Amino acid sequence: MNQAVKIGVINISDRASAGVYEDIPGKAAVALLREYLITPFEPVYRVIADERDEIAATLSRMADVEGCCLVITTGGTGPAPRDVTPEATEDVCDMMLPGFGELMRAVSLKYVPTAILSRQTAGIRGNTLIVNLPGKPKAIRECLEAVFPAIPYCIDLIDGPFLEAYPEKITVFRPKSG
Ligand code: MTE
Repeated sequence: MNQAVKIGVINISDRASAGVYEDIPGKAAVALLREYLITPFEPVYRVIADERDEIAATLSRMADVEGCCLVITTGGTGPAPRDVTPEATEDVCDMMLPGFGELMRAVSLKYVPTAILSRQTAGIRGNTLIVNLPGKPKAIRECLEAVFPAIPYCIDLIDGPFLEAYPEKITVFRPKSG
């Protein structure tokens, strides 16, 4: 029997976790994944504070216990003292994939000069790909649209489920073998 595909989404924000801000970024990320993916998936969803240990523990749990093939974080990638998402991501990853951050910053520079302030990155923990996105809903779309074409193949390479996307929404790339 095939297990349901699980995708983690973590909105990392002191203010959203305290109820001061509405939880818009996390919902925007789930909506975007639903827009792109034909493959049905179950979102595993959390809103947590900008606490390095809590972020690391949530990422580990989503990877090791919940069995998410992909975990998307939103927020906490900037230079403010409480922005620790990339550090927590590095804490739990076996291997970093710096190309994700490089591409997201390069693409984002077309929209805002402050794109260089985001330290967003990505990495692998076991069979899970973790990708950091900035916290603004507009930035979430701009960044995920840039890197998503490589995500299904990355998940193939770490023995995750075969993810299919709507070609009219996003063009996924899988190199032909041979
Ligand atoms: N990237 C895109 N595509 N669009 C944006 O508006 N905002 C930048 C940057 N990257 C932005 C962007 C800004 S102003 C900041 S401070 C950093 O992302 C970090 O955002 P975060 O702390 O919400 O993660």
